[in-house]
Amino acid sequence: MVEVAVSKYGRLDIACNNAGMGGPAKPTGEYEPDAWDRVIALNLSGVFYACRYQLEQMEKNGGGSIVNIASIHGQVAAPNSPAYTASKHGVVGLTKNIAAEYALKNIRCNAVGPGYIETALLKDNMTQNLMDAVAAKAPMNRLGTAQEVADLVVFLSSEKSSFTTGSYIIADGGYTAI
Ligand SMILES: NC(=O)c1ccc[n+]([C@@H]2O[C@H](COP(=O)([O-])OP(=O)(O)OC[C@H]3O[C@@H](n4cnc5c(N)ncnc54)[C@H](O)[C@@H]3O)[C@@H](O)[C@H]2O)c1
Repeated sequence: MVEVAVSKYGRLDIACNNAGMGGPAKPTGEYEPDAWDRVIALNLSGVFYACRYQLEQMEKNGGGSIVNIASIHGQVAAPNSPAYTASKHGVVGLTKNIAAEYALKNIRCNAVGPGYIETALLKDNMTQNLMDAVAAKAPMNRLGTAQEVADLVVFLSSEKSSFTTGSYIIADGGYTAI
């Protein structure tokens, strides 16, 4: 991905590492080790691999901004999704490390923590009743939209957030506020 971006634009200024999966729903004592490995490989190692090569290129071009997509479950538990919770807490920690290591190299790194957002990930894994129930747990009593998360990513990618690095910003309709 980095090679393609650089061959087309000559440099890499912004990157958003978004790919992720929920994994099966089981309590920790029943969770299949293979499923654990798959979720960690995509949600945490995938973000590391991407940052690893994005940082190398951003150093070459003298700066940049990375936004990693975590989740509210980078901060609070998702019962029956232990690998998801662990992977997203890991993304928040990795983001802080990168921010500390690269601040003087003009590279910022921040994480976004979406609450429940109306995407295929939710529709494929939840019934309408369950989606209504998680929406009702947030004071705004609705699911978020992909646009509302993207707007935060744009802000963190832009110079408008030039003093913000190592942060973890939540967009969750108030879900984790209560
Ligand atoms: N939808 C939510 O409620 C919600 C809440 C919090 C965080 N998130 C996070 O937001 C991110 C995007 O989730 P979404 O809801 O849009 O999910 P989604 O399932 O709709 O989209 C996930 C995307 O990741 C891609 N992907 C999956 N495996 C991949 C791989 N191995 N390599 C490259 N791409 C791969 C898929 O092709 C897909 O485009 C994920 O990291 C997810 O954990 C989602």
